[in-house]
Parts: sequence; structure tokens; C-alpha cells
Amino acid sequence: MSTIAQQAGGAQTTAHGNDVQAAVEALRRGGLIGLPTETVYGLGADASNPAAVARIFAAKQRPADHPLIVHLHRTAQLEQWARAIPTAAWRLAEAFWPGPLTLVLPRARSVLDAVTGGLDTVALRVPAHPLARAVLEEFAGGIAAPSANRHKKISPTTAQDVREELGDAVDVLLDGGECRVGIESTIVDLSTGTMRLLRPGAITADDLERTVGEPVELLIHPSIRSPGRMVLHYAPNARVVLASMEEVAERLAEYAVLGVHVGVLSAKRAPSWPAHIPWLPLGDSASEQAQQLYRRLREADGMRLAALIVVPPGDRGMGHALRDRLWRAAGLGDVLA
Ligand code: TXA
Ligand code: MG
Repeated sequence: MSTIAQQAGGAQTTAHGNDVQAAVEALRRGGLIGLPTETVYGLGADASNPAAVARIFAAKQRPADHPLIVHLHRTAQLEQWARAIPTAAWRLAEAFWPGPLTLVLPRARSVLDAVTGGLDTVALRVPAHPLARAVLEEFAGGIAAPSANRHKKISPTTAQDVREELGDAVDVLLDGGECRVGIESTIVDLSTGTMRLLRPGAITADDLERTVGEPVELLIHPSIRSPGRMVLHYAPNARVVLASMEEVAERLAEYAVLGVHVGVLSAKRAPSWPAHIPWLPLGDSASEQAQQLYRRLREADGMRLAALIVVPPGDRGMGHALRDRLWRAAGLGDVLA
């Protein structure tokens, strides 16, 4: 794993300890850092500094009422950020933290409105990536961090993606290599007395139910302000068209008639597809596919494809989260909810 910290526009250092120190100093100064996590890269700021949090919204061009996830080093810090913490939260934290799970809980009074978008709840997560953990340990406070992409764009899974998305807006960019999970954390709302899945991810609904011993509600309430729930979130520039393996050849023939520059994203390539059609391969398992998805969507944009035919995976396990992201990329929004 490469651990190079790049000061935006400046020199690189390679000493891991220095990288972490530079990031922590930037946070203390109210700056922004590019933070690798196991899911996607975050754009981090001191969650208790209103001016620093405001810089996140400016850099992302994100509407101010969209709440942020606060990242913590240890589960024990939950009590500084949340109140009325149910047993389910402790169970989930014990089972999945550090890891790709975000808990929505009633917020502690001290949590900034700028972080929660004025909601009475706060989203909290203890990430697993060693660099994120090192920064959180040294910083000791909460780091507010949305995915480090511009509003409505694909989440970054490498430091280079962050550089391309946000460039000089980031004061210190930590390079923690390619993200292991590749899609954003599972978000579960525990603030209402029942468990509600707000965003599917690597921790599946089955995982949640098994751990807590209660059913999880998959229906997403439309009034929740969650940009991840907006139609056309996670979209590449190419128009994403979903198709079954059997339908791809027919779609390709239609696009050929129209002269559209089209590619295919799928686990397998069929011999019947014309040889000149760019094929973006996805791994065999759902977890490999999740790890590669955003990179492939960025590649599609790099090839300036006008359309991308995507063969979605099955719905089992992490397939649910993948289909959620693909449905959104195709502009189908909440049909999966
Ligand atoms: O994997 C992840 O969760 C990444 C890494 C960086 O940790 N972060 C991430 O943040 O995906 P962001 O801001 O791109 O997405 C967070 C989602 C948003 O859809 C936001 O609306 C929702 O979490 N959210 C935050 N606070 C909430 C709250 N109090 N209630 C409901 N949804 C909330
Ligand atoms: Mg995001």
C-alpha cells in the first residue's frame, strides 16, 4: 500500500508518520483533507469547526441542508456525539466497527447544525482503513467527511480520483491506495425505534438482522434528506442503460444504427458482441464488482462513451447495494427502495 501525502500543488512526502501529522495539522487549522477509507475516499474536516465544515460544502458544491457522516476512532466516542443510544447500536458497532457501516442516531446537543443539516439525528461511522484510523487516533475528535467527489458525481476510490474531482480544494491528500470495498457504507437509521436501511452497502440487510435479531425495514421514507437517495446520484457522464445478458446484442445493434459510441459493463463478454465494442469487465463476485464499479464508470467517461450498457448482478448479498448504485446511475432513482 502506498502512503504518500501530497500537499495540494506542493511536494510529496513518503514517511507515513509525517503524512498523518500533516493531515491532523490541516484539520486543526480548519483545513480539508482527502481521507482514504475502506469504502471510498472522504473529504474530511474537523466536525466541531463550523468554518471547516462550511468549506466541505463549498468544495463539493453540495446543498447546505444535506447532512454529513462524522467519523470516529472508537465506538466509545459514540456517547459524545449521540444520545439515547439503543442496544442495537452497540451490537452493530461491536459486530461491524471498524468497518463500512454508518449508524444514524439521535444527536448529542453539541453536534453542529451544519453537520446534521439541521436534523435531530447524526450519522456516525468508525472506518477501518489504517490511514483513516491513524488520523482519527491522532486527531482525537470527529471528522466530518462526505465522499470526496463533486455533488452528484461518482465517489472516488483512489487518491488520483480525489485530485481530479477536487484538486486544490484539498489541503492534504492522503494516498491509501485503492479502496477495498469500493462503494459507500451501509447506512442504518436507529433513531426511530425500528431499524431502517437508508443506503445498502457491504454490510447487508441480512447481516443487520442477524446481529440485532430484529427485522430491518427496507422502505426508504421519501422525506429524508439524503443526497444518496436522489435520482441520478452516482451518475457518470455516459448514459447508463441496464440490460440482461440476453438483451445486450440487440441494444448494441440499435446503438450501431444510431451511430452512438457505446460500451458494455458486465461480468462476462458474449462472443456475439462486435469485436470493436469496448468491454469493461466486472469481477465474478458481488464484492469484486463493488470494488471495481466506480473505477469502471470513470473509465467509461475517460473513453468518452455516450452510452454504457450495464448488465446488473443478482440481488443476493452485496448485489443489493450494487444494484442500488446502478439503478441510480441509470436515473431510475428509488425503484429499488
Ligand atoms: O462510505 C461512506 O459512507 C463514505 C466514507 C467517506 O465514509 N461517506 C459518504 O458520505 O458516503 P456522503 O456524504 O457522500 O453520504 C452520506 C449519506 C448522505 O446520503 C447523507 O444524506 C446521509 O448519509 N446522512 C448523513 N447524515 C444523515 C442523517 N442524520 N440522517 C439520514 N441520512 C444521513
Ligand atoms: Mg457521496
